[in-house]
Formats: sequence, structure tokens, C-alpha cells
Amino acid sequence: MFQTSLPVTSRAFFDREQALEMIRRAADRLRAGAPSWLCILGPRKVGKTSLVLEFARRNPDPGIVFVLIDVLEGVPGSLEVFRRCALRAVDGALVGEPGISLEAVSRRPREYRRALQRSARFAKLPAEVQENVLDLPDRRLDVEDLEVYLHLPEQLAEALGITMIVALDEFQELAGAWGGRKPRELLPALRSAWQKHKRVAYVISGSAKSMLTDLVTREHSPFFQHFSLLELGPFERKDAVHLLRKGAPPGRPISRQLAEQVFDAVGGHPFYLQLLGELLTNDAPPYTERSLKDALQELLFSSTGRLALYFQNEFERLVGHSAYLSAVLEAVATDRKTLTEVAHAIGAPSGATVRYLQRLGDAVVKGEDGRYDIADQTFRLWVCWRAPGGTVIPMKVIGDEAEQVVAERLALMGFDLVYQSRASRGAFDLLATRGANQLGIQVKRTSLPARFRKAEWGRMVAEARRLGWLWLVAIVTPPPGTEVHLLDPAGVRPGPRGLILPETAAIENVLSWVDQKASGIPRRRRPS
Ligand SMILES: Nc1ncnc2c1ncn2[C@@H]1O[C@H](COP(=O)(O)OP(=O)(O)OP(=O)(O)O)[C@@H](O)[C@H]1O
Ligand SMILES: [Mg+2]
Repeated sequence: MFQTSLPVTSRAFFDREQALEMIRRAADRLRAGAPSWLCILGPRKVGKTSLVLEFARRNPDPGIVFVLIDVLEGVPGSLEVFRRCALRAVDGALVGEPGISLEAVSRRPREYRRALQRSARFAKLPAEVQENVLDLPDRRLDVEDLEVYLHLPEQLAEALGITMIVALDEFQELAGAWGGRKPRELLPALRSAWQKHKRVAYVISGSAKSMLTDLVTREHSPFFQHFSLLELGPFERKDAVHLLRKGAPPGRPISRQLAEQVFDAVGGHPFYLQLLGELLTNDAPPYTERSLKDALQELLFSSTGRLALYFQNEFERLVGHSAYLSAVLEAVATDRKTLTEVAHAIGAPSGATVRYLQRLGDAVVKGEDGRYDIADQTFRLWVCWRAPGGTVIPMKVIGDEAEQVVAERLALMGFDLVYQSRASRGAFDLLATRGANQLGIQVKRTSLPARFRKAEWGRMVAEARRLGWLWLVAIVTPPPGTEVHLLDPAGVRPGPRGLILPETAAIENVLSWVDQKASGIPRRRRPS
């Protein structure tokens, strides 16, 4: 089954063999007494947390205890996160013997201490370590106490003959003003404590890629040359196809061909694949290219789709209230641009433009040719879609060529184009809206005059009436010299084997035709 709300493990987890192997090697070095540190980098939602959780789940060695903590899960900026981390290390080291989670009862110190007395492993700890554990709930959050929190995992591991992997997610946050310190002041304390540890390996991860990379690769950083880098990116084609096919619920198969089309449309980001797979298989099978168009429209190219809302959130986080930042994003989304071109597009001096681009951080990347682009191509599509005239983007991404040219023609007249789900579009390929007017479009690639079977024609007439839409037929003539003809169904005539729609049915001015027709269109009739 597709899973989109939580990090994934076990059967919901796909791919990432190389990344798992890299953590495995870090675990081997830890067991050999030479722990090394690992930094997992990757964009938002690419699967950093899932990777660490899945490794912990697969971990065959009971001698390794995992301590996983998200720096942002408590009160941001508070050293409390290290107390939590220490409590989690105690919980892990005592392997459940107290019968409850010590972290959970740490706010009730009496209960906490009573629970510890039930643990045989606790009883084996040296007096000093016992004392540190007993005091954990009451300690303050200042410098000396921080030392205790930081060293506790190593003390526990040594006393119990185990090893630990401590994984801190969203680590880059600790480089800010944390625990009342100035930015970056906390880091040297972490480094000097961790360096002394022989039985604990540290894994850090986060989505602020350039910040984290700086932190572990810049010479002036306290972490310089201490970490190996593990970069997580989107899935490759074959793994993406595998996820879609294997993730599909029983009885709701996704064909290989469709899975390939999904990859072509949204790329290999596992979160996007899961969202699309989930939506696609919501309805009963079979799933066709048409289902994909509907799903993509609903998920990404609508104001309420889950991926659209996710991107809206990212967008607001990136640009805040700055109209300039938003203009820069739009400028590089429509096509890759040089600095001068971006500056020109947003009407700002190039010095200011450089700063805007910097403020957009990892969201914008500079190619080898010096042109700027949005890093995430699916996000790029969404940015283009919400810009003026962007409603043709869905047709460009997955429409055939005929739909594309028709959509572009209508967009120039100020129509918004959408793919509707089958139930709400009937026989039509596209819905074009302009103000209160709704126009169903039947796209046909053929030469003129266009021919229709009677039943086919009758279906369109009935659907238009049921939906209360105006409708027209868009003919796209085959190459060479592809032309678009927008034809009025009222011009239909009997033909040799059915009906024909000749070139003379062409609508001169679609906008006034729509206005005219709209005033005379029968409102929805009740089915007779
Ligand atoms: N290996 C995977 N196999 C299948 N789906 C995955 C995998 N990794 C991630 N996903 C999908 O992506 C979603 C996000 O995963 P996860 O929370 O692990 O990412 P993250 O990089 O830690 O995100 P964040 O930036 O929010 O911390 C999951 O809910 C799942 O839908
Ligand atoms: Mg995460």
C-alpha cells in the first residue's frame, strides 16, 4: 500500500540499497572500535528519516542500540533536546527492563526512579553512571549539565558492553542560536564530547543541504573532516517504477507503461510517487493515461491537491512576503536564466538579484552554463502552473501534442484549462473555464471535414446538456502544417457514414461566440 503520512519502513520501504550499505559499513567500524560519523543530506521528504529507521529495523545486531532524535521535536532552541536524547539512550540501553518508557515518565521523577529499580541492567551500572541516570529528570539546562547529557550514551555503552548509533535529524538547526548561545557556539561543545566516544557513532541529517555541507566540509567548522557524506536523491527510473508497481494495493495494479509515464511526469522523488500512486489507485481499475492526467491535475495542479498544498507551504517558507523573491522563482521556473536575465525579468539591479538568489538557498541551483534553475523539477512545474497563463502546464506535461496546441490557443483567449475526472467531464477531453462560462472541448486529430459516428456525437450532445456546458470541437490537422480549427457543433451535417463537421463550422471569434451562446444555453435539465 502507498504510504504518505509517516516515514516508511519494512514493506513500504523501497530502494536505497547503497545508502543502507553505507550505514552498514559505519556500523561495522563502530563494532570494530573505530566509530565514524555520517552526514545524510537530502531535500525535504526524500526519505532521510525513513532510511535511518529502516536501517535500525533491519539491524541484525542486538549489541547496537539506536537513539533517534529530531532536533525540532521539542521546544526549538532549547537544550532540552539533549536531555531527551540522553533519556532515549537510557531507554535503549536498558532494553525495556523498566517496563515503561523512561523518557515518557521523566516528568514524574519518583515514578522514573522507581522504574529504574526494576532494571537488572541499571543495577549493573557503576555508581557514577547510575547517579547521572537518576538525576536526568531534575538537571538544569546549562553548560555543565549539557556535558553530562552528551557523555551519557558513551558511559552507558561502555558499562554495558554495547555500542550505540545516535542519529540527530535536522541537525543544521543546532548551528543557529541554540540553548541561549550565539549561532555556532554550541557546535564545538558537541564535537569535543563526541570525539572522545569509542562506542557511539553519530549520524546527522537534514534538508538544508548547503548549510549542512558547509558545516561538515568547511575548514573553519568544528566538524571539518569528521563526517562522511551520504547524499540522498530521488529514485532512478527503475526503482520508481518498482515502487509504483509494488506499492499498488491488491487488485489495483499499475501497469509498467503507466508507471513509466508517472516517472516521466513527476520524476523520482519517493514522496511524490507515493502521493500520485495513492490518488491514482483510489478509484477502481483499470488505470490509463487518462487516469494519470486526472490524478496529476487533482494532486498538483489545483489549489487543494496535497502536493499543491505542500508546495504552497514550501513556497511561502521560501519567499515569505517578498514579492521580489517570488518573482525570481517565477523567472527561473519558466526557463533557465543567467543572472542578467533574472535581473532583467524582475526589474532589479544585478547586485540585489544576487542576494535574492542567495536567499532562495537550495531551492535554486546554478548550472555549469551559469544559468539558474529550480532544483526540484516538480516544484518548478507547480510554480509555472500558478503563474499567469500557467493552466496549460498540465497539458504540456502529460497531454498529447493535439491537446497541448488546443490548450495553448484557448489560454491565449483567457481560458483556464483543466483535466477533469471522468465523472465530471463526461465525454470531453478538456474543460476550459472563463469567468462563469464552462466550455467542454473535444480534441480530435484529423483532417477536415471531421467525421463522427452518430452514437459518438449523441454522447457529446447528451453530456453537454447534463453538465450544463457549452462545447466545441477542436480539430488539429496532421502534420505537415498542423492547424487548429475550433468548430461550432451547430454546423454538423449528415455525411456518408454518420455525421461530418466541415471547415465552414469554424468559429470566428470564440469569445463573442461564448458570450452569445451563454445567454441562450439551457440550464441543467432534470434527466427525463
Ligand atoms: N525508501 C522509500 N521508499 C518508499 N517511500 C519513501 C522512501 N523514502 C521516503 N518515502 C516517501 O517519502 C515520505 C517522506 O519520507 P521521510 O519522512 O523519511 O523523508 P525525510 O527526508 O525525512 O523528510 P523531512 O524532510 O520532512 O524530514 C514518506 O512518507 C514516503 O511516502
Ligand atoms: Mg525527516
